[in-house]
Amino acid sequence: MSLPSTPTAVYAKRRAAIGRALKAAGGGIAVLPTAPERPRNRDSDFPYRHDSYFYYLTGFTEPGAWLVIESSGKAVTSTLFCLPKDLERETWDGIRLGPDAAPAQLGVDAAFSVDTLDEKMPGLLTNQNAVWFPFATHKGLQTQVDGWLGQVRARVRLGAECPQSQHDLCRLLDEMRLHKDRHEIAILRRAGAISAGAHVRAMQTSAALLRQGIKGGLREYHLEAELLHEFRRHGAQAPAYTSIVAAGGNACVLHYRAGNTELQPGQLCLIDAGCELDGYASDITRTFPADGKFTPAQRTLYDIVLAAQEAAIAATKPGNRFTDPHDAATRVLAQGMLDTGLLSKAKHGSVDDVIESGAYRQFYMHRTGHWMGMDVHDCGDYTEPGSQPRLEKDALGQMVMKKPARILKPGMVLTIEPGIYVRPAKGVPKKFWDIGIRIEDDALVTAEGCELMTRGVPVAADEIEGLMRG
Ligand code: GLY
Ligand code: MN
Ligand code: MN
Repeated sequence: MSLPSTPTAVYAKRRAAIGRALKAAGGGIAVLPTAPERPRNRDSDFPYRHDSYFYYLTGFTEPGAWLVIESSGKAVTSTLFCLPKDLERETWDGIRLGPDAAPAQLGVDAAFSVDTLDEKMPGLLTNQNAVWFPFATHKGLQTQVDGWLGQVRARVRLGAECPQSQHDLCRLLDEMRLHKDRHEIAILRRAGAISAGAHVRAMQTSAALLRQGIKGGLREYHLEAELLHEFRRHGAQAPAYTSIVAAGGNACVLHYRAGNTELQPGQLCLIDAGCELDGYASDITRTFPADGKFTPAQRTLYDIVLAAQEAAIAATKPGNRFTDPHDAATRVLAQGMLDTGLLSKAKHGSVDDVIESGAYRQFYMHRTGHWMGMDVHDCGDYTEPGSQPRLEKDALGQMVMKKPARILKPGMVLTIEPGIYVRPAKGVPKKFWDIGIRIEDDALVTAEGCELMTRGVPVAADEIEGLMRG
């Protein structure tokens, strides 16, 4: 049992907002389970991680819990179902909050043992207009809801009314979660600062160990260990996603995992890693010379990626669309590819031609960012709600009908992460082969532009070299 770092009143406010949304939609009841525990092998489970939607509305991190919000009458009421107190189980698995303590601790109106869920749900669903639950996120949930509704329907002859419609609760929650409140922003800033410190430590360790020499060679996993050490020593509970520590050409594999490749002097190392703190992610990428000194070819490409990131940062401001930072970064990258001969001007033409043809995708094949929050790839609509679809080019250059991209507003959080990845290929200058570079920071959209929450680790090539010399 661990208690949330955010006041319980904040979660109550979020539940009230859901209650108001249900009311505005004609009344109804929302049902939301937390995540299940997942077996890893034999008697071992994966480390438990609560469901983000559930945590957003409760701050409760125990498994085996459900939240029910009703808003049919005047009031909005919240009911928690949680694991019952059980001395035997608590001796093995840890202290449980239990239903008696839950209302005072979490601010819910009522709490019951989860053992009574199936017995109580048909009654709670009776005479409700609609039932809201997360679609396609919890295996078996639809079947469970169907079972409860079946029991309500069986009592229709006795005067019970069965909900007439079912709706996706994620629709309401995604929109709320996209706009971070000040409590969330405070945690995101702290998570970003811890992760930045971990990147600094990894860079310094890399240079120091290569200088000193280390038996068996400096390996990717040595730097991963430094990251984890720094996350945990500052109280972060876990990495927000599997850390990428990639030596040399491994950086050209976008989802490479920290492995055991030896880092060689003269090679670059790409680290994409961030901690999860109190349920909130951070997501940082830095690319640095393993021994602390960029080669001229590495520096040339690095400065292009950095300029692309600066262009994307300048385009991250209220009123701009989610795609504007990507378009700004892509233009700088495409120009850089022509200037360096990665793309031949004779063959590919001007920067506009390269963007139109998509030739830049040989070296830059991903988007420049994503929403970030409790989930590293956070929820939230990437298109503007209420807008009309129009014919547009998608990320792969196909013409498709889609809504215009989301308009950025203060309080939204997104990553800015351009890169260049050069795999050996005919026609590509050899000096650039096996160079993979990405630079990623986490941006909070503010009234004027954006705040980078992860700049506790330097990004300019000279500053990185200075840090690694120190
Ligand atoms: N680390 C995951 C990402 O950058 O999207
Ligand atoms: Mn990212
Ligand atoms: Mn990342």
